[in-house]
Amino acid sequence: LNYAKTHFVLSAPDINHLPVDGGVEIAFAGRSNAGKSSALNTLTNQKSLARTSKTPGRTQLINLFEVEPNCRLVDLPGYGYAQVPEQVKRKWQQSLGEYLQKRESLKGLVVLMDIRHPLKDLDQQMIDWAVQSNLPVMLLLTKSDKLASGAQKQQLNMVKEAILPFQGDITVATFSSLKRTGLEQLKQKLDEWFSQ
Ligand code: GTP
Ligand code: MG
Repeated sequence: LNYAKTHFVLSAPDINHLPVDGGVEIAFAGRSNAGKSSALNTLTNQKSLARTSKTPGRTQLINLFEVEPNCRLVDLPGYGYAQVPEQVKRKWQQSLGEYLQKRESLKGLVVLMDIRHPLKDLDQQMIDWAVQSNLPVMLLLTKSDKLASGAQKQQLNMVKEAILPFQGDITVATFSSLKRTGLEQLKQKLDEWFSQ
């Protein structure tokens, strides 16, 4: 697919505001500040398609983008960020959970984790849930430019070993929006999921 052609469709506060549940959707999930929106911009070669921020909790709505008819990418609100009013957090965790559980067109999950702090509790819960739901997962170890290459490999191997017990369809890659590392692997996986 030509990801550069991706365009914004809408932002929804919950799944009731999403378009008809058909075609294929692939969602980007991860802790606040993990680099989800940045990865979407890198993938689509567009500077500000998805809004990014230094402040965690930037993305609070379900943001939908269309690559081509029936092929959509979804930027989800981050999880695990404490410095947000409890009510806001509850609302957005609820819409996240509902989206993941009820959206029939969701066919693949990209889980982004900062390469320096991978596999936090909520990441593991997310992976566990996806495996239970028979949803394939691509784990991206983001901001890999922050580590030297030896340390990157070490983290990659550590994560690969740690996910063995999950026994699901899980692929792991290092990723950097800054250096465009892992971009081809990501595109290949998305192409695979979109073509099923
Ligand atoms: P929320 O929407 O708050 O959940 O965050 P997010 O996961 O969408 O993160 P976002 O893409 O907004 O990035 C968070 C911060 O990390 C920003 O300051 C980005 O510039 C920075 N960042 C993202 N990707 C990279 C990367 O590959 N390398 C480096 N060095 N910084 C990155
Ligand atoms: Mg975001």
